Amino acid sequence: MSKLVVKGGATLSGSVRVQGAKNSALPILAASIISGGESVIHNCPDISDVDDALEILRYLGCRARRDGTKVTVDSSELARTDIPEELMCRMRGSVLFLGALVARAGEAKISAPGGCRLGPRPVDLHLRALRAIGIDASENEGSVRCRCAEYRGGLVYLPIPSVGATENAMAAASRARGTTVIVNAAREPEICDLACYLSKLGVRVFGAGSSTVTIEGRKTLNKAAEHRLIPDRIAAATYLCCAAAAGGKAELRNVCVLDICPVIRALREMGCEISRRRDSLTIVSKGKLRAHGGIVTGPYPAFPTDAQPPLMAASVLAEGSSVFTETVFEKRYRHVPELIKLGADIEVEGKRALVRGVNSLRGCELKAEDLRGGAALATAALRAEGETVISGFEYVKRGYEGFGRTLSELGAQVVEID
Ligand code: EPZ
Repeated sequence: MSKLVVKGGATLSGSVRVQGAKNSALPILAASIISGGESVIHNCPDISDVDDALEILRYLGCRARRDGTKVTVDSSELARTDIPEELMCRMRGSVLFLGALVARAGEAKISAPGGCRLGPRPVDLHLRALRAIGIDASENEGSVRCRCAEYRGGLVYLPIPSVGATENAMAAASRARGTTVIVNAAREPEICDLACYLSKLGVRVFGAGSSTVTIEGRKTLNKAAEHRLIPDRIAAATYLCCAAAAGGKAELRNVCVLDICPVIRALREMGCEISRRRDSLTIVSKGKLRAHGGIVTGPYPAFPTDAQPPLMAASVLAEGSSVFTETVFEKRYRHVPELIKLGADIEVEGKRALVRGVNSLRGCELKAEDLRGGAALATAALRAEGETVISGFEYVKRGYEGFGRTLSELGAQVVEID
């Protein structure tokens, strides 16, 4: 059990480097089994979700090693095509091995993936996508079995632009006999990053980042690929919210500004000054924040659902009221009762949360229930009077590399306790 102890009141100052993208690392590490060669992945974050992905790779018979932020995977030896519940249950990203296993070996057997409890997280769109390109995919009580030695590719229509289903379809389509077109594909930057990696394996991918992605499958792929992951846009958004909440001035290096425009816009509405110099952002937060004009989360390029909890945490002390509308996940307000324990005034009704700004927060014992919700509790605790102890901090370590260290480097008084 991990805890984060936060002594509130310190304003932030300093400069930190933002990690590589967790939600790029997971699909690309899964796709590294497709070619049967050696992939070198740079800028790979040191987080427990990546550790779990490496454990799955080793279980499948690959050699996987980490050297700082460089991860090397040799998938020449694939000993099995099944992933047991004990490995699948740790994160949602484990489902991304499905398409890659079918592409490599023509079969796959996985149990239900884990992941943050944000409401139902079915895999029906993943199966729909695989079936649409000729793969025999069946599900029984959460377990999924696929088998198809040869499949032709085809037209995949996603009624929801699911990130994971798009990624599984792209991985499977890379070894299809023909061309696959994904309509209503997810447009997140991590989709483009996966497409860039697949192209280094020799797969021709067109339209990544748009709603229509075309993949020309190839039977034989390049054996080796080297790739640098994009920066983690949600980590960057989270640290911006921390600086906004705590006050002060902070520089974030290694940021892709275009990926977090909606978050920057909201924080500027709240009175923060945010400036850019190449791939660095500097945020200045002075005095009391103002309530933003309301945010509605949605598929990229809308406001990212993963940044909703940290922005809400930065809003609880703002002047005025702000409305959050969460349209992606059904239960993404699990951080609200914990923020209320700190003294926040938040009312949730269905998809909407109304945050009325209060004048102060008082530190206390809190419990993280999921990855981004845990980061939100830390964000609010930076401004709470006294000490806040956040248990369940292992959730945060799934997605943030050195979260406590990063905040300490910016002058926050935080300590991680294992
Ligand atoms: C990815 O999850 C991310 N995770 C999530 O980040 C992110 O919040 C989400 O995309 C949306 O951007 C990873 O990349 C590992 P979806 P994913 O499929 O792929 C429904 C974080 O904190 N749906 O785009 O699971 C689903 O229930 C995590 O880093 C189906 O109905 O998200 C949701 O309502 C949290 N059937 C919506 O689609 C399916 O088969 C979007 O989900 C799949 C999804």
